[in-house]
Amino acid sequence: MVSWFDPEEFERLRVARGVIWGRPVRLLESTSSTNDLGLEAISTPAKTGIVWLAREQTGGRGRRGTAWVSTPGENMTLSILLRVPGPLERASGFSLLVGLALREVIEGTLRSPRSIQVKWPNDVLIDGKKCAGILIESRLGAQQELALVVGVGLNVLAREFPPFLQEATSLAREDADPARLDFESLLVSLLHALERRTPAFLKAGPASLLDELERHDFLRGKRLRVGEDEGEGAGFDERGHLLLRQEDGSLRTVLTGHVEFLDALTPG
Ligand code: BTN
Repeated sequence: MVSWFDPEEFERLRVARGVIWGRPVRLLESTSSTNDLGLEAISTPAKTGIVWLAREQTGGRGRRGTAWVSTPGENMTLSILLRVPGPLERASGFSLLVGLALREVIEGTLRSPRSIQVKWPNDVLIDGKKCAGILIESRLGAQQELALVVGVGLNVLAREFPPFLQEATSLAREDADPARLDFESLLVSLLHALERRTPAFLKAGPASLLDELERHDFLRGKRLRVGEDEGEGAGFDERGHLLLRQEDGSLRTVLTGHVEFLDALTPG
C-alpha cells in the first residue's frame, strides 16, 4: 500500500461510476517512463485498459524528444494501454479525444469558470497555460489490433515550475477545489471521459469529435505557422488534421508539426 494512491478507494469509485478500464492500475514509486512500461506490455497478454501510474518518472518523455518534468508526487504521470481495431492512423486522431477527455476532467475540478482548451496536437490549457500533455505511442499488436499507449501528464498539485516552464500551470494554481484533487477520483474521471467518447470515435473517427472540438479549440482564429505552412487556425477535418485558412480563403490541411504563433502576444 502506497501513501499517495489508495487502490481500494479507486476501485470503489471505478465501480460506482461504471468504469471498465483501470483493471488493474499498476503503481510505481519510480520508473523511467510509464509509456515505456505500456510499450513493453504490448507484446504480452496484457489486456486493454491497464494503467501504469508513477509517483516519479526519471525519464519522462514529451513529444518531439522533449523531457516531461514533474516533481515526484505532485502531479499525475500515467499511461493507459488500449487495444482497439486498426488502422494505425487512428492513433493521431485519438490524441484529440484524449485532449477533450482531459478538458472535461479539468473542468470538473475548478471552482470558477475558466477557458479550458485543447491545443492541437497534444496539450490542454487553462487560460492559455499548459496544464496537461499527451504522448500517444502506437504499434500493431499480435492480433493485428492497434495498441495505443496513451501517456498523460496532468499537473495537479505543483505550485512552482522551473524557469523554462513558465507557461505551465496546475489545477491547484487555478482555483481547483482541493477536495477534488485526489488522484483516485481524477483517474476514474479520466477513464470515464475516455470510455464515453471511444465507441463513437471507433465508428466515425475524429469526425465524432468535431462539434466538441470546435467549442474548445485553442488554435481557432489564431495566425499560425506549422512547418512550411502559414494561416489562420480553422478547426479540423474529419480525419483530425488541422486546417489553416490561407489569405485567399482556401484551406490547407496539416498532418503534423510544431505550432508557432505569428502574433507575438499569443500565449502558448
Ligand atoms: C507533451 O506535452 O509533450 C506530452 C507529455 C506527456 C507526458 C506523459 S507523463 C506519462 C507518460 N510517460 C511519459 O514518459 N510521457 C507521458
